[in-house]
Amino acid sequence: MGSVSLKIGDGTARFQSATVCSSAVNILMIFSVITTNLFALYAFTASNKHHQSQHLLLQHAHKNFSLISEQVQLILNEIDSSQKKLAQMEKQLLGYDTIDLSRPNIAPELKLFLQQHQLPLGKDSKTGITEMVPSVGHSCEKSSDLLSQYMTYKVHGSCQDDWILAQKLILRACEPLPRRRCFAKVVSKVGLYPFPDSLWKPVANKTVNWSGLSCKNFQCLNGKKLNRECIGCFDLLNGYESQRFVKARGKNDFLIDDVLELGSGGIRVGLDLGGGSGSFAARMAERNVTVITSTLNVDAPFSEFIAARGLFPLYLSLDHRFPFYDNVFDLVHAASSLDVGGKPEKLEFLMFDIDRILRPDGLFWLDNFYCTSDEKKRELTRLIEKFGYKKLKWVVGEKIDSLGSGKSEVVLSAVLQKPVRV
Ligand SMILES: *[C@@H]1O[C@H](CO)[C@@H](O)[C@H](O)[C@H]1NC(C)=O
Ligand SMILES: *[C@@H]1O[C@H](CO)[C@@H](O)[C@H](O)[C@H]1NC(C)=O
Ligand SMILES: *[C@@H]1O[C@H](CO)[C@@H](O)[C@H](O)[C@H]1NC(C)=O
Ligand SMILES: *[C@@H]1O[C@H](CO)[C@@H](O)[C@H](O)[C@H]1NC(C)=O
Repeated sequence: MGSVSLKIGDGTARFQSATVCSSAVNILMIFSVITTNLFALYAFTASNKHHQSQHLLLQHAHKNFSLISEQVQLILNEIDSSQKKLAQMEKQLLGYDTIDLSRPNIAPELKLFLQQHQLPLGKDSKTGITEMVPSVGHSCEKSSDLLSQYMTYKVHGSCQDDWILAQKLILRACEPLPRRRCFAKVVSKVGLYPFPDSLWKPVANKTVNWSGLSCKNFQCLNGKKLNRECIGCFDLLNGYESQRFVKARGKNDFLIDDVLELGSGGIRVGLDLGGGSGSFAARMAERNVTVITSTLNVDAPFSEFIAARGLFPLYLSLDHRFPFYDNVFDLVHAASSLDVGGKPEKLEFLMFDIDRILRPDGLFWLDNFYCTSDEKKRELTRLIEKFGYKKLKWVVGEKIDSLGSGKSEVVLSAVLQKPVRV
């Protein structure tokens, strides 16, 4: 009986081929023990009516009672141990060691989804894999109550309006989420403009279901400072959003055309990390460069807005390994969203993943990264230097915190070129 292990995040899930035969024999044995005991119990009670002597009856009664309760105890023990064996068997059949599906209140849909299935033609000779196992984040184990709530729905019916629950799970690293067999709530997308007009047209309030958000229309979002990448970023007509990347406010703002020039015509596909309302991708689209914008819907309908502009929103947390193959992007753009906090190694994991998806000679554009301290700047500089990128642009400046704390902070902007490593 083989065993396959799979790395998931920093945990390892182990999948074992179940020893179905031996478990079935076990069940059979348990069943026969239980029936034998039940027969004995029946024999005790059935023989009662053949007794004439009341005296003898009373004498034996006490002895018999303890005999019966002994038998009952034995039966209970057997039932208990067979229940444990069944749970163990179910776990083996499902193949999950990390998510305890035997605990109560686990939604049946979750068990069903997580069931692994054998490859139809048996073991794949190239990969050695014998079965397919559905993806689910290993941290889902920590939020199994929320996960079960998420997986409780009417099969083939409508899903609850529970995107906030889903996002909560993702933020708790329960990513990827399991698939579901219910229909997501529909929001009709009326009034969409054809591309490329769509890039800078206001998006209709009706294209978004505002339930769960504090703002109930785009007017309300326009004046908001949601994060460093989104200060009034939903206002495409007034304010600064329409000038970003094409008009500099200071030496830390590089212009898209200057950066594309550095790529000497080789920039065609890119990824924008934590890219606000998608204006970077919009400016790139105007230059025939396809950019994917990674985003979550924190406090605002970023995903819907980006899609309404005719751009590609990628609904993914930055702690998730990028779902792209190695060396595929010509450009990765990141701003302060890169600041993942925690130990320096946290940023290192992210940087290595960016490096992985960037092709040799591809550009990494670090755009107005706010270093909360001088130490942070030195740390980041040391890290970048470890990767051996060529510094095509490197500007350290100082800026008043744009979110309104009034503090002056060190800001780093850079365009770095990935080396060809041999
Ligand atoms: C007690 O058990 C004996 C056999 O062990 C049986 O002969 C007797 O009838 C039983 N008495 C009662 C009160 O059940
Ligand atoms: C938005 O979601 C709420 C809650 O599920 C629902 O009642 C409402 O009908 C939805 N609105 C639209 C426009 O779909
Ligand atoms: C959205 O709703 C607000 C408030 O009702 C309104 O002022 C605004 O014009 C609407 N915007 C669009 C694009 O429909
Ligand atoms: C983008 O591509 C279109 C169609 O090939 C072309 O007409 C246009 O000039 C290109 N724009 C830029 C900025 O390269």
